[in-house]
Amino acid sequence: MSLQTAIRDGINRALRPMGVQVVRGYSTDRAIQPFLSAHRTETAARRAGLSIEDYIDRYSAAPGATAETVEVLLRLADLGDHVARVCEIGAGTGRYTARVIGALRPDVYEVYETAQDWLPRLRALPNVIIQPADGHTLRATRTASVDLVHAHKVFVYLPLVVTVGYLEEMVRVVRPGGVVAFDIVTDNCLDEPTTKAWVSSGATLYGMISRSWIVDLLARRNLSLVGGHFVPLSEGRTELLVFRRD
Ligand SMILES: C[S@@+](CC[C@H](N)C(=O)[O-])C[C@H]1O[C@@H](n2cnc3c(N)ncnc32)[C@H](O)[C@@H]1O
Repeated sequence: MSLQTAIRDGINRALRPMGVQVVRGYSTDRAIQPFLSAHRTETAARRAGLSIEDYIDRYSAAPGATAETVEVLLRLADLGDHVARVCEIGAGTGRYTARVIGALRPDVYEVYETAQDWLPRLRALPNVIIQPADGHTLRATRTASVDLVHAHKVFVYLPLVVTVGYLEEMVRVVRPGGVVAFDIVTDNCLDEPTTKAWVSSGATLYGMISRSWIVDLLARRNLSLVGGHFVPLSEGRTELLVFRRD
């Protein structure tokens, strides 16, 4: 246990009679969800002799999952090997960022990430610019300007209205013929064993969104579903959905 954790636990024990507690985070906005500490994750990956990508894949009990997901995304997106602009929401560890940059060699890669501690790592990747992340919008990105806008393991745990707000923004910033991709927990992901496992472990972190509801919502905004792919998630799976703007 780190000194910081020990101090926080001590403070929380003292505050318990008052019904309040201290939690890690930088914002009281429910849209901004804390993530793994960059320092702790980097240290643990280094100790295990693994890259961050391999460490996170192993943490989710799915070695190779990041590489496979990006491969499927790029095949469905069919954007060639050079694009002008990519935008990513909640890039965090940068495991998808690095692979997409390697494959699409964008002139500019815009990142909206609310966790400050992951920013130095993301900023070090080629052509990345860190945009001001307010947790809800892509306000620094021009309308119809990006070839690909994507998010991974982000909409699985944000409140529904925040996800839908981001989807509206993705629709706004993608160029005609461009691609919108993200993973969510759909009704297809929640089979009987997964549902039982979630209930018995009290997995309150994730939320499910109806696949047909999302597909219909985006169809009304001129986005056609190109394909889907299941992606492992600790305690289950998500569905990566890839759409093209008409
Ligand atoms: C579960 S992590 C996934 C990180 C990365 N995409 C990956 O798969 O390794 C979710 C990421 O979304 C970021 N995040 C949380 N709320 C956000 C918000 N409202 N807007 C943008 N990013 C957010 C977190 O800081 C974190 O980096």
